[in-house]
Amino acid sequence: MILALLLILAEKKILNYGTCCIDINEGEKKLQVTGGGSLLSSLAENEIFIPSACGGRGTCAYCKVQVMEGGSMISPVEEPYLGPEERKNQIRLSCQVKVRKDIKIHVPKELLSVKKYRGKLLHKRPLTYDIIELRIELLEPNTIDFVAGQYVQLESEEYDGHDRVMRAYSMSSPPSDKNHIELMIRKVPSGICTTWVFEHLKEEQEVTFSGPYGKFRISNTDAEIIFIAGGSGMAPIWGMLRDLKENGNTRKATYFFGALTQKDLFFVDELTKLQQEVSWFRFVPALSKEPEGSDWKGERGLITEVVARYMPDCSKNEGYLCGSPGMIDACIKVLTEAGMTEDRIFYDKFA
Ligand SMILES: Cc1cc2nc3c(=O)[nH]c(=O)nc-3n(C[C@H](O)[C@H](O)[C@H](O)COP(=O)(O)OP(=O)(O)OC[C@H]3O[C@@H](n4cnc5c(N)ncnc54)[C@H](O)[C@@H]3O)c2cc1C
Ligand code: FES
Repeated sequence: MILALLLILAEKKILNYGTCCIDINEGEKKLQVTGGGSLLSSLAENEIFIPSACGGRGTCAYCKVQVMEGGSMISPVEEPYLGPEERKNQIRLSCQVKVRKDIKIHVPKELLSVKKYRGKLLHKRPLTYDIIELRIELLEPNTIDFVAGQYVQLESEEYDGHDRVMRAYSMSSPPSDKNHIELMIRKVPSGICTTWVFEHLKEEQEVTFSGPYGKFRISNTDAEIIFIAGGSGMAPIWGMLRDLKENGNTRKATYFFGALTQKDLFFVDELTKLQQEVSWFRFVPALSKEPEGSDWKGERGLITEVVARYMPDCSKNEGYLCGSPGMIDACIKVLTEAGMTEDRIFYDKFA
């Protein structure tokens, strides 16, 4: 860690690359930056925010951009994340590309409208023993435009020797609530950002985040929807459901909520109420480790088994999944075995 820091400082101080130009989308924007930094951080310093779920560690592969000219060689860190098609298209991990000379890049247009926000934490409410809901009022800018399913990157503050980090969190609030965002965050043991959120972040405190990011959203078709999400994976699904209701949806949708035991369930009352209020929605909570003989009257078993039981033929459905990579991969397998084509399966992996 200390060695890495020294190397970065040495590179900045000793190797002077002077001022370099980052040309974005053939002259749509031209930035003058001090050479030596990563492409990801040089862009962020100029208010251009590329998604970076791992905060630049080179492990999330979210920070891909197309480097047309001036990129260094592909580094060993990038190797596992770049497929043949991406290499052909000069896609790179922007956190691993150093700006050492003038560089030309292409970024999707929507990323140029991502903004940095300052907000005030209105509440931090426990949903279960390890999941909390944050409701944040936007201060500057005081409104946000996004599509249900998108996420923000929350910035932690320094604590106990940890630097500030940025982590991705899906918005669970509907896009109509433009002055606020809501997040559902699960505590990860020894996780830098979630430990800060659970143990250091206080109500009324100012928070910083950027967004909106992501392509996870409901497509514009009539296909019956299958939502599958457990734990904090519910966040974007809850945002989508509220948005669908507000917009007078009639498209049929079933939400399979997988949890271990009753203490991992939350929002059951809200989802049951939604099921009573609108005819298009069905809610199926299922527990995989609930003790035999308990008072649980709902479904039991792994969520994949429950989905397979309820949906033997998925050839006309669309799937929207959110949660850990393992859970998503298992669900994709079940859905495709039941006839759903992969182009009809949409997801955000919380990795
Ligand atoms: C698009 C997207 C949306 C997301 N939305 C949500 C959401 O709505 N709610 C939610 O709860 N989460 C969400 N996540 C996950 C979230 O972004 C974080 O990954 C999660 O909260 C953990 O962050 P952390 O800083 O607490 O943990 P980290 O410090 O990143 O650690 C995560 C785990 O990795 C281990 N680890 C840390 N550093 C290393 C290392 N160098 N090498 C090996 N292992 C290491 C830690 O021990 C820990 O087990 C989302 C992720 C993505 C990509
Ligand atoms: S920011 Fe995660 S791989 Fe680059």
